Amino acid sequence: PLLDPLPSIPALYSSIGFSIFAFLATIYLVPALGPTFVKARLRGKDLLKYYDKSIPEEELFVPESLGLVAASVYILSLILFIPFAFTMPIREQANVKTAPEGITVSEFPHYQLSVYLSSLLSLLVATILGFLDDVFDIRWRHKLPIPIIASIPLLMVYYAEQGNTNVVVPIPLRFILGKLINLAGPLYYVYMSLLSTFSTNSINILAGINGSEVSQALIIALSVILNDLLYLPWPIGFRIPLHLLGNTTELDFGGVWNAGMSFGSRELVERHLFSLYFMLPLVAVCTGFLYHNWYPARVFPGDTLCYVTGMAFAVVGIQAHFSKTLLLFFMPQIFNFLLSCPQLFGLVPCPRHRVPRFDKDTNLLYPSLAVPLNSDSTTKAFAKTPSKMTTVVVRLFSALKLTETTVDPATGAVVNTTNLTILNFFLLRFGPMNEKRLVKVLISAQLAGSVLAFFIRYALAWLVYDG
Ligand code: UD1
Ligand code: MG
Repeated sequence: PLLDPLPSIPALYSSIGFSIFAFLATIYLVPALGPTFVKARLRGKDLLKYYDKSIPEEELFVPESLGLVAASVYILSLILFIPFAFTMPIREQANVKTAPEGITVSEFPHYQLSVYLSSLLSLLVATILGFLDDVFDIRWRHKLPIPIIASIPLLMVYYAEQGNTNVVVPIPLRFILGKLINLAGPLYYVYMSLLSTFSTNSINILAGINGSEVSQALIIALSVILNDLLYLPWPIGFRIPLHLLGNTTELDFGGVWNAGMSFGSRELVERHLFSLYFMLPLVAVCTGFLYHNWYPARVFPGDTLCYVTGMAFAVVGIQAHFSKTLLLFFMPQIFNFLLSCPQLFGLVPCPRHRVPRFDKDTNLLYPSLAVPLNSDSTTKAFAKTPSKMTTVVVRLFSALKLTETTVDPATGAVVNTTNLTILNFFLLRFGPMNEKRLVKVLISAQLAGSVLAFFIRYALAWLVYDG
């Protein structure tokens, strides 16, 4: 059947309307509630600024965890949207069932509603977890499993649809694995639940400079939206002929007229609409928040914002079945996570804050050391001689120019290293710069990652996957 063309999807207009409301509410509420958060002792010192000694300490604090306001506005607008998403389709495009007597009854889209509600549940758990982390500084080993548990409702709904867990094997691997492997077993579900842990924590550990957390979330959300738009039934579809390595292929996007083809089938359209309904208000609250969090930050997002945005991405990736494309939008976060592993897993000392080092005389940021130097400037990061494993990893990273190490001139042993973060990596490669410039470098890297992601997904995928 021909699909309704885009202009006749009224819920999409309500979603845009709620997003405008969410943007205005965030822009207004975040600064208005800042003092309330400070009063509740939710506040932090901006680590990368210079403070005159004469300013009383009380005045230096920036309200922290204002991500709670953004998350609340986000979740409330998603709840308010429910009647709009689920009443119009009943009237206008209900699944019509014909009973034996010839009576037609329209069926309520219960399945879609359970997808929606389980997603809201995961977002709420993420918000609670993030806020508790802000208040109590929960330990890693305690907070890592929580998003995994929070993803159970999502996975159950996915399972109820008999989610297609056949994974198409890339051509070069087919001689070993065959064309399709069925990961219906526990493996695919383990992968999807790990996705939520990854997406929530990977944004949180790429943090510490003004605007970093929110701008990552904003760019990923915009990339997801752009990807969703490619699947909608636009009145006219478009084709891009592509000549690559002597082969010619045609990329086919949008278009009601494509119904029935892989792009534009009804199910696909519904999934990407679902993703849009979750991403549009997310872009709205992130934009509103970024306005106040931009250098010099008047508020901090806290872990709450990192967790809720990360969970929103996991939700759409799983429910709309594009988790691999989603991971392509996380390239800077994957790089930062892999780089961080030696510190996260205890091979290299990990200080409470791994933010770059701020120099007040030049107002520039420099790569920070795992253990900062004392006045004697011979501070060792490793108490004794580091283990073989540590030495190998640190030397490898150093050879790859990912970090800079300090070596004891007498023994040749590694004694210190710069913190293993992407922010320090930028400072090592591009030289010292101020905080505003560094966040722009991070934003550029995220944007470049998304451009590359689209290229891999649409221009290269057919080289490894046939059609
Ligand atoms: C994560 C990072 C940590 C980094 C911190 C900064 C890991 C394992 N953990 O810890 O290295 O230092 O985020 O958010 O990589 N802050 C600023 N400027 C900002 C944002 C935050 O100075 O733009 C400071 C403030 O003092 C704020 C604090 O960071 O109070 C928040 O840190 P928190 O989110 O609690 O740190 P973690 O997420 O545990
Ligand atoms: Mg944090």
